[in-house]
Amino acid sequence: MATAVLGLQWGDEGKGKITHLLARDADMVVRFNGGPNAGHTVIDRGKKFGTHLIPAGAFYSDTESVLAGGTVIDLSVLREEIDVIAAHVGEWPSVFVAENAHLILPYHRLLEELEGSGSRFGTTRRGIGPTYRDKAMHIGVRAGDLLRPDVLRTRLQWRVNLLKRSWPDAEEIQAIEVEGLVNEAMDRAEPILGSIGDAATRIGEALDRGKNVLFEGAQGALLDVDHGTYPYVTSSPTTFAGLGQSIGIPCPDVEHRLGIAKAYTTRVGAGPFPTELCDDTGERLQRAGGEFGVTTGRPRRCGWLDGVALRYAVRLNGATSLALTKLDVLSGIGTVRVCVAYDCDGRTRTSFPLSGDVLECCRPVYEEMDGWDESIDAVTCLEELPSQARAYVERVESIAGIPASIVSTGPAPEQTIVRGL
Ligand code: GDP
Ligand code: IMO
Ligand code: MG
Repeated sequence: MATAVLGLQWGDEGKGKITHLLARDADMVVRFNGGPNAGHTVIDRGKKFGTHLIPAGAFYSDTESVLAGGTVIDLSVLREEIDVIAAHVGEWPSVFVAENAHLILPYHRLLEELEGSGSRFGTTRRGIGPTYRDKAMHIGVRAGDLLRPDVLRTRLQWRVNLLKRSWPDAEEIQAIEVEGLVNEAMDRAEPILGSIGDAATRIGEALDRGKNVLFEGAQGALLDVDHGTYPYVTSSPTTFAGLGQSIGIPCPDVEHRLGIAKAYTTRVGAGPFPTELCDDTGERLQRAGGEFGVTTGRPRRCGWLDGVALRYAVRLNGATSLALTKLDVLSGIGTVRVCVAYDCDGRTRTSFPLSGDVLECCRPVYEEMDGWDESIDAVTCLEELPSQARAYVERVESIAGIPASIVSTGPAPEQTIVRGL
């Protein structure tokens, strides 16, 4: 049985919590997109972690974690995460790295700064864009190159020569030394060298043998490089459509495609956000929801749930059910609003525009619902929710067109209503 956990908004929907919960029963957990731009919060045995690369399987001793070919890996971040989790769980987690995953090297972060995409688009400044660009231009360095240090050295030599020609006046670029890059990469990679290889075959065999495989998505549908709010997106696919390409298995049989959505919307970084609330209610959601980035610490922009975007994201992912998270954060708000259409230059539209520029001109058309005052963070079955909260869940289900198989009422694993996938 295979399950994919997929973000349906602009990231930070609570994928870490839900993946960690489901990973308890998984044989293998696979990260299939992005890199350390992700920040997934996991509460394991009462302790809070912010993971960037390592899949949530690393918290369980019988579960293998795999970083698939479509990911980009910063070896320093990976090493640190492995060390922290090993100290917590008391054993070295089993982590397998695809040989075709690309490496983020120090010059990728430097390029992101020099080119200014951090301030222009509000990127996470983790070197994600420049690394995916190098991959597309076939001048990247891959995890498998670590197994052949001579090849690694040659590739880095080409890349650094090109960098120095392209940035003749940038002192930090001119100061880069290939031997230093090789030594640093080999040093960081040393403990995982024996676990770099053909991830496609490994994942394929696990699926063929009927193992319980869980795919941990990063980012969210609206940040997808092709189908998101371009140009305010990340640099890789983020939806189920990109999963097969990343893992190297055409049309993988993933029975459950669990779309994760917050009961409201957040966005970190620049870009259009029709339901954004720049008022007291927005501040309240930010405070009550603890909406600050795990990777960058930036405050997240907050707003009402955008049903138009949600329907689009469900379709893009072929999501089979929803995990609706952070319902508890809406407690105590008198009237709750959900966006059901956009007003675009006087015309009503119910489809999500493919262009970020068109979305910029869309104003939300809201439906209002009664809120509830009760705290719901100890509720563990749907029937115990206040009737208004139940009505809200049902309305979100009808807008999304799929049932909510999970409703989350707090950050801890036990604060979860599970209705079965
Ligand atoms: P991810 O990137 O999708 O894994 O999400 P993040 O970890 O970046 O952000 C989600 C935040 O919400 C984290 O601080 C979680 O601990 C927290 N969280 C997850 N589910 C719930 C929930 O149901 N209620 C509340 N109050 N917090 C939650
Ligand atoms: P998780 O997995 C929220 C956003 C950045 C920026 C844009 C491009 O925790 O949900 P990048 O560094 O990827 O080039 O930045 O994408 N972004 C995220 N926002 N959650 C994430 O991951 C994100 N990963 C990237 O803020 O707007
Ligand atoms: Mg996050």
